[in-house]
Parts: sequence; C-alpha cells; structure tokens
Amino acid sequence: MSIYERHVFFCTNHRENGAACNHHGATDLCAYAKKRLTEAAPEYAKRVRVNRAGCLARCQDGPVIVVYPEAVWYTYIDAIDIDEIVNEHLINGRFVERLRIDESFQFQK
Ligand code: FES
Repeated sequence: MSIYERHVFFCTNHRENGAACNHHGATDLCAYAKKRLTEAAPEYAKRVRVNRAGCLARCQDGPVIVVYPEAVWYTYIDAIDIDEIVNEHLINGRFVERLRIDESFQFQK
C-alpha cells in the first residue's frame, strides 16, 4: 500500500544558461500548489504529497509537473492553471485535459 494517494513532482530546475522550468516560476508555483491544497482540502493535503524535483527531462515542454500514480504530465502558465490541477486532479481525480502533455515524448539518449 502506498503511503500517499498521489505524489506530485514539480520540476524546479534552474540553469544559468538555457531553458529550465524555474525560469517560469516553478518554485513559487510549487509552494502555491501546496498552500492551495491545504486550504481547499486539508484532508487531501495529508494524502497527496507535493515535492520539488530536479530536471524531469522534459525541458522543451516546461514548466512541467507529473502526478503519480497515474503518471499524468502537465504544463502550466500561472496560478489559475495550478488551481485547476489541484481542484480537478489532486482533489477530485479528474484529469485536466487542456494542460496535459501528450505521451509522444521520447527520452533522448
Ligand atoms: S528543466 Fe524542467 S524538465 Fe528539465
């Protein structure tokens, strides 16, 4: 049995040169997601873990997050998008199709 019902990873990687998710406010929006989850549904905040992560190797799609156990990838622009992911997916289990990144990604060797 899993410790958490869902586990969310925000790429908060930073690079001095080149694209990285933290150039899009990832660290702040990760903190915002934790706060919104706690405010909106304190009972879920104990069962859904939101973590910062290093590069998730989808930099070209960034900023990115991934939600397990469903392995659903999202991109986002602002707090409005994070609100929708928190309310729809993390609390109610409904995927946010408009923010999903397709599964055609191929890992670059
Ligand atoms: S910097 Fe975010 S996925 Fe690589």
